[in-house]
This record gives sequence, structure tokens and C-alpha cells, in this order.
Amino acid sequence: MAAASGMAAILAATLAVVKPGERILCPEEVYGGTYHLFTHELARLGIGVDFAPANDVDAFARAFTPETRLVFLETISNPLLRVPPLKELAALARERGAVVVVDNTFATPYLARPLEWGAHLVVHSATKFLAGHSDVTAGVVVGERHLVKRAREIIAAYGCHLNPFEAWLAARGLKTLSVRMARHCENAMRMARWLAARPAVARVYYPGLSEDDGERVRTLLGGRGGALVTFRLREGTDVGAFFRGLSWIKLVPTLAGVETTVAHPASTSHRALPPARRRAVGVTDE
Ligand SMILES: Cc1ncc(COP(=O)(O)O)c(C=O)c1O
Repeated sequence: MAAASGMAAILAATLAVVKPGERILCPEEVYGGTYHLFTHELARLGIGVDFAPANDVDAFARAFTPETRLVFLETISNPLLRVPPLKELAALARERGAVVVVDNTFATPYLARPLEWGAHLVVHSATKFLAGHSDVTAGVVVGERHLVKRAREIIAAYGCHLNPFEAWLAARGLKTLSVRMARHCENAMRMARWLAARPAVARVYYPGLSEDDGERVRTLLGGRGGALVTFRLREGTDVGAFFRGLSWIKLVPTLAGVETTVAHPASTSHRALPPARRRAVGVTDE
């Protein structure tokens, strides 16, 4: 089911599952817009949210409450590009009777199909790679028929349909998804290796760059790391001067077009997180 944006898809998928009095469990470093939706808007409807580290299955298991009805996961986290143990987390959620929704925006179906790992629903911000040309705002909800049917009713009731022209643009962009993603992955790995060798860079985050997450990247993403590379500049670096110094890579608040762009998560995608949480999950100004 298509929706007007990734956030509309996430809203529809979550409201298709949870009702007042129930709770959502999600990773600590969830996308800032989702964090805001859960903590501010859904909270007003009497829906609770708990956060846990998605890389630690035991800690995640301890965060379940008797009211936990939905487990919301992301295939590749933003911005630290962690690939959590999704099969284990989905199995755990199912064992506890929760519905699993996975935001697969960063991986896309080219790299990962979370429905095959036990997710009930998958959501995408089609604004990103699915449409792929930075000219569309769209979202999709995919998965079990009865849940998608409920999501469709919510999309209609809240008036967050995808408009016909954007649907057409998104469908057109989708035709080249596999070609774009293959090239993105190739370029991103080269860029990650290049950045890792720069003295001004304290750390590079890219799935599969180090053996730390090699096994998960092989089993969950088919050995490919995706289109995004994150890096941390050395502490004390003048971050503004870094951005001003870029000659042709544009600083943008979004991502996933066909050109190389750069973004600053602390002041864009993750600005909705309170500063202390932002720091705790590793999203610093650098
Ligand atoms: C992982 C992820 N999910 C959802 C969204 C929201 O998508 P949209 O901007 O299409 O509402 C974004 C946007 O940046 C995102 O990065």
C-alpha cells in the first residue's frame, strides 16, 4: 500500500497494530522522525514506547513489557549503519506475541527482504532509494494481507494517500533500483575505504567494512553494505568549515538521489532526539 511519505507509511503500519494502552518496542537509535512520532504523537493517543539496544538481544528481551504489542526495527540503522541481529529479534518478538514491523528504507528490497526473516510488515520511505531521484515524497507498507488492509484504511481515513503524479514518478524510479543500488554499493565501499585512510577522520561506519559485522552483512544483506557511508571527524574539528570546504558534494537534508550528497544527522535526521539520547547513541556534532 502506497502512502504520501515514509512517515505516513510508518504511522499507518503502527496504527494498524497498536491501540491505546499498548506499547511499541524499538531500537535506541531509531530514525529521529520515527522517534518523534512514537514519543510525541502516538503518546498522545495513549500508546507507549520503550527503547532498547537492538544489537543486544538479551537487553532487547528485557525491555518487553506485558503491553508490548509491536516491535519496530530497522534493517540498517541511521546514522551509525548498524545491522542488528534481525532474525533473532524477529523470532523473539514472535515468541512474545508481538507484531514485527521493519523499516527497510536503507537496505531496500535489493539488499534485504525482512518478510523472509519473520517480519509481519515492512515499511519504506520511497522518497529515498525506491524512487531514487530526490523528486518524490512517498512511502510503502508491505506484508501480511490483513495488516496491509488495515494500513490502507488508516491511510484513507487520515488522508495520507500518495498522489497520482508522485506514484507515477516513484514507479518510474523503481525500474532502475537494482542498477542504482549495485553502483551505490560499489561506490560506497570505495569511499568508506578511502575515508578510513584519512587522518582527519576518527572513524568510518560502513556495513561490512570491518569484520565486526561481517557475518551479519553476509547473511542479512548478501555481503553488500548499502549506499550510505557515515564518518566521524576527529573531536574538536570545525564541522562547519568541513561542510563549507566541500566543492561539489552538496549538503542536503535528505539522501538517496543519484548524486553524492552529504548530511549532518545531529542537526537534521536526529535533531528530534533529546541531546543526551543523541550523544548516548553516538550521534555527536562530529
Ligand atoms: C530510515 C527512515 N525511515 C523513514 C523516513 C521518513 O521518510 P519520509 O521522509 O519519506 O517521510 C526516513 C527519512 O529520512 C528515514 O531515513
